[in-house]
Amino acid sequence: MTLRVGVVGFGYWGPNIVRNFANLGRDARVTWICDTQGARLERARELVEGARLTERFEDLLEADDCDAIAVITPVASHHALALATLKAGKHAFVTKPMTRTVAEAAELLDEAEKRGLTLFCDHTAVYHGAVKTAKDIIDRGELGELWYFDAVRINLGLFQRDVNVLWDLASHDLAVLDYWCGQQPVSVSAVGAAHGGQPHADVAYLTVHYASSFIAHVHANWLSPTKVRRIILGGNKKMLIFDELEVSEKIKVYDRGIEVRTDEEIYDALVQYRMGDMLAPRIDLTDALAVETRHFVRCTRGEERPLTGGAAGMRVVQILEAASQSIGLGGAPVPCATLRA
Ligand SMILES: NC(=O)c1ccc[n+]([C@@H]2O[C@H](COP(=O)([O-])OP(=O)(O)OC[C@H]3O[C@@H](n4cnc5c(N)ncnc54)[C@H](O)[C@@H]3O)[C@@H](O)[C@H]2O)c1
Repeated sequence: MTLRVGVVGFGYWGPNIVRNFANLGRDARVTWICDTQGARLERARELVEGARLTERFEDLLEADDCDAIAVITPVASHHALALATLKAGKHAFVTKPMTRTVAEAAELLDEAEKRGLTLFCDHTAVYHGAVKTAKDIIDRGELGELWYFDAVRINLGLFQRDVNVLWDLASHDLAVLDYWCGQQPVSVSAVGAAHGGQPHADVAYLTVHYASSFIAHVHANWLSPTKVRRIILGGNKKMLIFDELEVSEKIKVYDRGIEVRTDEEIYDALVQYRMGDMLAPRIDLTDALAVETRHFVRCTRGEERPLTGGAAGMRVVQILEAASQSIGLGGAPVPCATLRA
């Protein structure tokens, strides 16, 4: 059965979503594209044949030939648009970050569950072949006990008017953290600063604390002269580096670390270093959005369960919401309540 998809929001990211749904062959068809800025819809005409274009979101809600709606607008509007989508009996694909607050996310989850609809969060990063390869390595126990997650996502970025740099950039790393490590955070602390008269932090440092000694950190920056997209995941057996900008060797697994001996009396002698081999596993280079949109279609048919469903979207929002509060409190830790699985 062909999923008939409507897309609301046709700015920078919307066209990528439209193109990928349109490329799924018989699995999906883009039937509607909506943007309140009519001029933007002109480009849509060239991108996909046969889709109806409108400035009125209600047209998508009322349309018989629209089974699912992809919400690709700024985050402030996600909750209202996604809730209306679900209430109209349609599946919702909501780009990241899913909502502004955990309360908004919870309302979407409840609505989707009540109606038996798919609520899906567009955590695109999770669908990179490299991220999947790393997940397999983690799940096989190759890294051992996880000790830390350290992400850097910096570049001379497009300043967002409505959110700070963490909501824009760190949301990707937090989605990967959630997928790879899946631990419930205890608290979040963050500091950040805004420059050039801008209202929101453009440089920020976020730390997530857990009940175990595992710790996660994300550095996000719109003011960096060069682009870095790198995550280090340290375990007690091996360590892994994911460098998104590497052409082919995006994942490197290092057999390096420390070994602590307890039979010595002098502290310096206790810690020994292990400098073993590095391995760069082969990874699937299929475009992440192609994988993700196909997976969404299968979820709406009940054939697969969302890898990044509403609950994953809510867990990322929980950390971002706490981080914004912490920035306002000068970096004080903000506790995280345990969320439903
Ligand atoms: N998953 C990813 O990797 C990824 C990448 C980039 C952006 N995004 C997300 O996509 C969303 C949009 O980002 P963008 O950079 O495309 O923004 P943008 O400002 O370029 O585009 C947003 C578009 O939505 C339209 N719009 C806003 N409110 C609307 C409404 N109520 N009804 C209809 N149209 C409306 C605007 O007119 C605009 O054309 C953000 O939430 C962002 O975080 C996700």
